Amino acid sequence: MKDKNELKFQSPNGPDVKAKTETPFKIAIVTSTALVIGCITKALHFTVKAAEEIISFSLTDVADVLIVTAILMVVFFTLLVYLRFVKADKVSDKKHLITLFSIILVDFVVRLLFSNFISVFVIPFSLAGLLSALLLSRRIGMMTNIFINIAFFLNNVLLNGYTDAAMGAATLVSAIMFGIVMIAYTGKSSATRVRYMGVGVCTSAVAAIIPAVIGILSNRYGIIDAGMYGFCGFVSALVSIALMSLFLPVFEFIFKINTVFRLSEITSLEAPLMRRLAEEAPGTFSHSLMVGNLAELCAIAIGESAQLAKAAGYYHDVGKINNPTFFIENQKGYNPHDDVIPEISVKIITSHTEDGYQMIKKSNLPDIIADVAHEHHGTTSVNYFLYKAQKLTEEDIDQSEFSYTDPKPTTKIAAIVMIADTVEAATRALAGGISTDKEYRSYIRSLIKAKSDAGQFSNCEITFNDLRLIEDTLVYFMPQMHHQRIRYEFSKSNTKGVLR
Ligand SMILES: [Fe+2]
Ligand SMILES: [Fe+2]
Repeated sequence: MKDKNELKFQSPNGPDVKAKTETPFKIAIVTSTALVIGCITKALHFTVKAAEEIISFSLTDVADVLIVTAILMVVFFTLLVYLRFVKADKVSDKKHLITLFSIILVDFVVRLLFSNFISVFVIPFSLAGLLSALLLSRRIGMMTNIFINIAFFLNNVLLNGYTDAAMGAATLVSAIMFGIVMIAYTGKSSATRVRYMGVGVCTSAVAAIIPAVIGILSNRYGIIDAGMYGFCGFVSALVSIALMSLFLPVFEFIFKINTVFRLSEITSLEAPLMRRLAEEAPGTFSHSLMVGNLAELCAIAIGESAQLAKAAGYYHDVGKINNPTFFIENQKGYNPHDDVIPEISVKIITSHTEDGYQMIKKSNLPDIIADVAHEHHGTTSVNYFLYKAQKLTEEDIDQSEFSYTDPKPTTKIAAIVMIADTVEAATRALAGGISTDKEYRSYIRSLIKAKSDAGQFSNCEITFNDLRLIEDTLVYFMPQMHHQRIRYEFSKSNTKGVLR
């Protein structure tokens, strides 16, 4: 079992991409980001200076740029070293490293624009922390939030002579506190953009109290001035959330990253493909919800992204929308397979993986959800129609003609969905044929073993330990999902239910 803390920080972006970054790439990206920010910092200083001062560009200005660059480089490298040693290894991947430093760059530009053209007191201090928590992981978000605020205050002290240490520290503390609370909330699987705004407003109000109270206690400000400080802190936090909402879809789109918000939106039963599934293939819809919920629990058990597994489970069978009545869960008496030969039946059945893949791609849903729909049957055979065909002929049947020809699962999430799908469908088919924990364990173990023995997990990194944890999870939850409801009988004289 993985370390519990590690499990809490799983990003909803699926497996790490394998393009590892080399140290020279890290040095290049850190140096260039720091230098660009250093230059922008100085350039914005110029724009607010009188024209004659711009002409008197001196070596001091170059020194200022270098100081800012050096400070930022130290902070950024410290951040990378920290993230490496706490194994938040998402940033060892090229795409995620570029995402992180793009966020940092955008954050600094926004800070500099605010401090030069609006007010230093309403700078969105938590923008980078919130964006990196949502797009990468909460651990990265928390550390980015702390490091970037420290870097900004250091630069401000050096370049602008900001010497009120007490108020600087108070603002820093409230910015960091606000960021941490908001980032912690991003781990909630129930998080939606609207709820996030609500939590943001409440946290902003609390964060605003810190500078106000320190201002009064340190006898630097009267109640009115301290109140203004507090109000500015409140506005700053709200601006962080507003800008985060603005930039998040842009980053989601550019870097193709799934945030908890995106996953929560696509697993909403109001999502277009989910609604179509519910209306056109209600039996498959019900099965998919069960698979999604089981996949979510299994993902938690082995430290994969729960939200992603749930979404993948919800969408794994959407391809059945094209021929809903050919799938037993949608049939109401009439079975269209009775009217076609087994070869046609199996073609229709096996096409649902490719159909689902195409539908998900067309709907602009995350690639990994499309891949899971494509891979969830691997290369398994459709035994029912294989045996049916065999009964109709004396000749040997080619098993490959009665098998799925899709890729085998390439990710742990796809393997989880394959197992959850098989177990859900098989135990439902037994219709109460098993009831004790021992029977459930034996049956579920045999289903997982059959997939494993057939080599269905040979293209993904799932381990025997993962399979054992998945088995434990399913054995624990399946009986509870299949439990019989207790029937109530109401007597005429007494409206209290009587257990039968
Ligand atoms: Fe399927
Ligand atoms: Fe299924």
